[in-house]
Amino acid sequence: MSHLSSDVMARARQLLALYPHPRSALIPICHLAQEQDGWLRPQAIEEIAQLVGLTPAEVLGTASFYDMLHTEPVGRYLVAVCTNIACMLRGAYELLEHAEEHLGVCTGATTADGMFTLEDAECLADCGRAPCLQVNHRFFGDLTNATFDALVADLRAGRLDDDVPHHGTLLRVRRRHELQVDDRTIAAERQERAAADASAGGAGAPGGSR
Ligand code: FES
Repeated sequence: MSHLSSDVMARARQLLALYPHPRSALIPICHLAQEQDGWLRPQAIEEIAQLVGLTPAEVLGTASFYDMLHTEPVGRYLVAVCTNIACMLRGAYELLEHAEEHLGVCTGATTADGMFTLEDAECLADCGRAPCLQVNHRFFGDLTNATFDALVADLRAGRLDDDVPHHGTLLRVRRRHELQVDDRTIAAERQERAAADASAGGAGAPGGSR
């Protein structure tokens, strides 16, 4: 029985059809598998290798090169605190130290309940809101110890589920019209999303996400 779900397999085949060489679809298919499990399980790596015509070792070698792909389990929320220059000057290391104390883990570790993995990150390109961090690749900026604690509480309580889906989810809006769409469809989907955001009244998260 396949480890990857039938939905993931169907979407992987759609991706394969977009490229002249199956191996070119490797990274997006890895993201699909990570969306299913939160990380790349060995069974998923084997099935991806079969799909794209590579060995599992080649898939693992590629996946382990990229920060956005995880070959070991991570928490439901991957909290990445930027410690690069702009954030460092505005207290990133103090914030990271506070995050370690608040979550009860060292940088690089996952909380016992599996909710949070804490890591430090290079520049997240959000320097104007330093110090900043990402949670599952969503941005939060202008953080203080207090707003960090509030962010963790909101995540734990599920209050940010619409903005910060579980680790591995790249897109909040699933494309419903296959992978090739016309400009009018894209514009309509953006309008639909903007209307949904407006009626939700914003994220309400510390520092806001984008
Ligand atoms: S230095 Fe932190 S986002 Fe650029």
